[in-house]
Amino acid sequence: MQKPLIAGNWKMHTTVHEGAELVLKLREFIKSTDSIDVVLAPPFTSIQHISHLVADSGIELAGQNVFWKEDGAYTGEISAQMLRAIGCSYVIIGHSERRALFGDTDDRVNKKAHAAVKAGLKPIICVGETLEEKEAGRTLSKVKGQIMRALAGLKTGSLRELTIAYEPIWAIGTGQSATPETAEEVHNSIRELLYEDYDTSAAKKIRIIYGGSVKADNIDSLMAMPNIDGALVGGASLKAEDFARIVQFESA
Ligand code: 13P
Repeated sequence: MQKPLIAGNWKMHTTVHEGAELVLKLREFIKSTDSIDVVLAPPFTSIQHISHLVADSGIELAGQNVFWKEDGAYTGEISAQMLRAIGCSYVIIGHSERRALFGDTDDRVNKKAHAAVKAGLKPIICVGETLEEKEAGRTLSKVKGQIMRALAGLKTGSLRELTIAYEPIWAIGTGQSATPETAEEVHNSIRELLYEDYDTSAAKKIRIIYGGSVKADNIDSLMAMPNIDGALVGGASLKAEDFARIVQFESA
């Protein structure tokens, strides 16, 4: 089994100075990263500076997005190689905000996943259903379809470095997290899908993390579930004390 992964997605928050302050506070509060992978996804403009501040801390960095081409005339875009060069080891792909607001289709998510793997970045692929889809009983079909299309053509070997983030859209930024039981049910189905499609040892190593209103006061019960391998945290990752508490969750 892989270590649990707790990632903070800062979204479009923090200037480079604010980000630096946050990281320095976090380093004070987080006592050890020996038994957990801790990843921060600051805005692009802060990543390089923060990479110096997390050196020797065990904290790793992620891009919040990536373009699939290596370089070229693509104004405003950032390649996987560029992210690697400034100290990222992970990249978030297909976040629901990018899917809803910036045209990230399943096909684009798949291209980005291939580009990330090729450059040696570990993809964190986000999937999740809307409230309407949940109420219509379409959660599993939505999530499974997104995963199959995101992973199309990726070799089993590269899947070991993969994380799936289940982020129900209705739970993001609403304060209304999925219950541990509901999240576990979806994670368990995702695990079964991975076992069906990939060899057992590869499927076992893929982490399935939960995102959507993860807070200091619900992380312990979420992490007590057998198929919840970590969390992707938005709002609470911007408060050093809260994020440190989430990282240092109490296992059952
Ligand atoms: P919140 O934790 O603010 O609900 O955001 C979740 C998220 O979108 C992480 O990627």
